Amino acid sequence: MRNITPSLLLVFCIILGLVSGMFSSKSVILSSIEIFKTHEWLSPQPVIYFHCQGENKIILPDVKEKNFVYKFKGIESWQPIAGFPDKKCKRCGLYELDRLKSDDVFDEWELCPDEFLEGNYVHYKQKEFNATFACTECMTRVE
Ligand SMILES: *[C@@H]1O[C@H](CO)[C@@H](O)[C@H](O)[C@H]1NC(C)=O
Repeated sequence: MRNITPSLLLVFCIILGLVSGMFSSKSVILSSIEIFKTHEWLSPQPVIYFHCQGENKIILPDVKEKNFVYKFKGIESWQPIAGFPDKKCKRCGLYELDRLKSDDVFDEWELCPDEFLEGNYVHYKQKEFNATFACTECMTRVE
């Protein structure tokens, strides 16, 4: 087909890219986490979970001990921990299940795709926790 010019092909590729971009969500992985305290005095095994507003709670089944760095490969059954469908930030937090009162909050913050410098983002809160997240698709392009 002689009629397909390179520029037409380019336009086609751009449209294809836009369409696939509309449906793909950028995955966020929890790479490591260390908690510095637990909030429940009565329970020896804390239940720690990550939650973004309007989404499901993601329980971190392995995170039980404080002052221990848990590292993850990104392919654990509960990963990815979050996703960004667009450029908007999400209100997320780290919590501990409380059987008697409302759940304890380690921290709540805006998780933003543009804060993943070189695909990584660290969220540290003194005396609470230190978590590193990865999102390779969030990488800010240097143009
Ligand atoms: C947080 O964790 C990361 C990865 O383990 C580590 O490189 C960094 O030094 C830690 N930051 C603090 C303040 O503990």
